[in-house]
Amino acid sequence: MMRTGTVVACSAAAVLVAVAAGPIEPGRVAASSQQKVLRLATTTSTVDTGLLADILPDFQARCGCRVDVVAVGTGQAIELGKRGDADVLLVHSPEQEAAFMKEGHGIRRDDVMYNDFVIVGPTGDPAGVAKASSARDAFRSIARAAAAFASRGDRSGTHTKERAIWKSAGIDPAEEGPQRPSWYLSVGQGMGETLAFANEKQAYALADRATWTSMQGRLPSLRRLFGGGSGDENPDRDLRNQYSVIVIDQARHPGVKAALGLQFADWLLSKPTQARIAAFGRDSAGRSLFYADSDEYKATDRVRVESGGRSRTFTLGEIAKLRSTTLSGVEYIGVKKGRLGRHAWTGVSLTDLLLALDPGIASKSRSTSTIEVVSSDGWTASFTWHELFGSVSRGEGLYRAKGCNECHGLKAEGTRPEGKRPAPKLLGETYPVGDTTAMIRSGTAQHEGITAYTADRLSDADLAAILGWLARPNQAGTDDVFVVPPPRRIAMLAYERDGRPMTGRDGLIQLVVGFDEFASRYSHWVSEIRVRY
Ligand code: HEC
Repeated sequence: MMRTGTVVACSAAAVLVAVAAGPIEPGRVAASSQQKVLRLATTTSTVDTGLLADILPDFQARCGCRVDVVAVGTGQAIELGKRGDADVLLVHSPEQEAAFMKEGHGIRRDDVMYNDFVIVGPTGDPAGVAKASSARDAFRSIARAAAAFASRGDRSGTHTKERAIWKSAGIDPAEEGPQRPSWYLSVGQGMGETLAFANEKQAYALADRATWTSMQGRLPSLRRLFGGGSGDENPDRDLRNQYSVIVIDQARHPGVKAALGLQFADWLLSKPTQARIAAFGRDSAGRSLFYADSDEYKATDRVRVESGGRSRTFTLGEIAKLRSTTLSGVEYIGVKKGRLGRHAWTGVSLTDLLLALDPGIASKSRSTSTIEVVSSDGWTASFTWHELFGSVSRGEGLYRAKGCNECHGLKAEGTRPEGKRPAPKLLGETYPVGDTTAMIRSGTAQHEGITAYTADRLSDADLAAILGWLARPNQAGTDDVFVVPPPRRIAMLAYERDGRPMTGRDGLIQLVVGFDEFASRYSHWVSEIRVRY
């Protein structure tokens, strides 16, 4: 018997939740079983936090259907999908999901939302996790102190992440059998149960922030020891926790209701539902528990431009009236999805757009300006004035094309990002070519832990040119100008891809940068452009 919000334990780890559009009275259960039913297999966190109970009634009212939620670990949810025992999945284990799609079980997979993981543990913190600089570091201290650690042990997304952290820490605690260290406790249950267990046993645990935030009031012996006060403050980027929706393929599993599944995915990714996801938790927990992340949510159809004391918002229609530019064969690289193929992009170049608002910007007297391009998902791409309106030396161009700017700053001025290792100022310094090449190639010495620049990513000659510019930044000779193949010289806001307007989840306005040598630098949903002096 199921009523609104009733939680019924089905097996050791599975929880079946029915969220009805309206209360179903006992006498009406038979009639309601005639209703269309969507089977959603998901991870425990979407239920334990109360998110699904909050958003699903809206979908059920729209589809005139009932959603049966099976809340298990991601691994089990994926198994249900493989057997055709679910119509849609809402899960969080990118690697397992990619394999699932490759095997052909799903027809569509889209990003829905994300939050992050934190490490919680006993208030006394016997292993000193609060002092760790990364999750890997924290796990090493736990193992060194042989302090109790509660593992989900259920092949969930969180469990998969936890095992990956142990591996990167160079430790591999056996999960069962005589080899299992006595401090490693495998719970084999959902996030809520695992946290309750850790609370009772004074154990450490890896938890998704959403479940932790919504339950922490009931866990007096535990506190958050690593991960910062919010997702933005989390010092370890590897702790990001991405959720996706997957619609199961009916051709592969005939019992599946793919049309209803697609309707569900479209609804989940739509702007109104995403806004509700983004707001969820603000009242009850005092802060959002998930960051809404669908392409449709982030897509923009207007851009605010600020330059030379003026500002104006350009709508998509207004942008399309400016002189257009097409860039062909530019590789589209998603932040999370990787290489997505080569495309022809049409839009307005950044220079034309800025000149439309502020004709004086091309003047040499403005050459110290920095142009910041801000996306709706919070990313910022910065350009120097010289990149857009002047010319740059080969070494300077390569410095940015090869991504040194990501850590050392746009003008090699050095950065001190909160919670991360500061990257020193390089401009004006002379570095020996031989030692620096060795450090950058191997990812050791000062670059310990930084992805190694192999020879195919950065040649010896290019590195020498970068070091030459750093040592003598103001000596850009005329024969030393960074020459990029002409079709790639443009930074632009694109509104058409391969001749077709970009709509909905493809994003309406994206920034495409052509002058990167091995890839376009960014492809995001631009909402604002600011020129700073
Ligand atoms: C992911 C971030 C990151 C990237 C990308 C990066 N660096 Fe670094 N780099 C650092 C950090 C952090 C340090 C300082 C490490 C320390 O000493 O703790 C550093 C140190 C250096 C140093 C030594 C500085 C000194 O004064 O000791 C040089 C030289 C250097 N980087 C050059 C480069 C070049 C050239 C590139 C691009 C090809 C590059 N780095 C890309 C993060 C980065």
